Amino acid sequence: MQINGVSAVITGGASGLGLATAARLVDQGAHVVLLDLPTSAGEQVAKELGDRAAFVAGDVRSADDAARA
Ligand SMILES: NC(=O)c1ccc[n+]([C@@H]2O[C@H](COP(=O)([O-])OP(=O)(O)OC[C@H]3O[C@@H](n4cnc5c(N)ncnc54)[C@H](O)[C@@H]3O)[C@@H](O)[C@H]2O)c1
Repeated sequence: MQINGVSAVITGGASGLGLATAARLVDQGAHVVLLDLPTSAGEQVAKELGDRAAFVAGDVRSADDAARA
């Protein structure tokens, strides 16, 4: 599977399995958007992942939030 250069939206990406997935994808050259709750550590986590990561505060159950991500 070609990961380098793809963009991925990762729901729940600020912690646990989602964060591990995001880190793995970034390591392999992907861009990632972490869609996670406003109360999560997403902002800080995205900074730590580097330039190819961004955080969108939202709820995966909201179609509008998912579309923004
Ligand atoms: N950790 C495991 O070994 C394991 C094994 C099997 C299943 N699971 C399941 O996988 C899921 C994730 O587990 P985890 O350990 O990564 O949990 P976690 O709590 O570390 O991470 C979940 C993330 O999802 C976010 N989140 C919760 N509700 C959200 C919503 N409505 N919209 C957007 N983001 C939301 C949380 O803020 C958090 O950052 C859970 O449902 C868990 O039960 C985990």
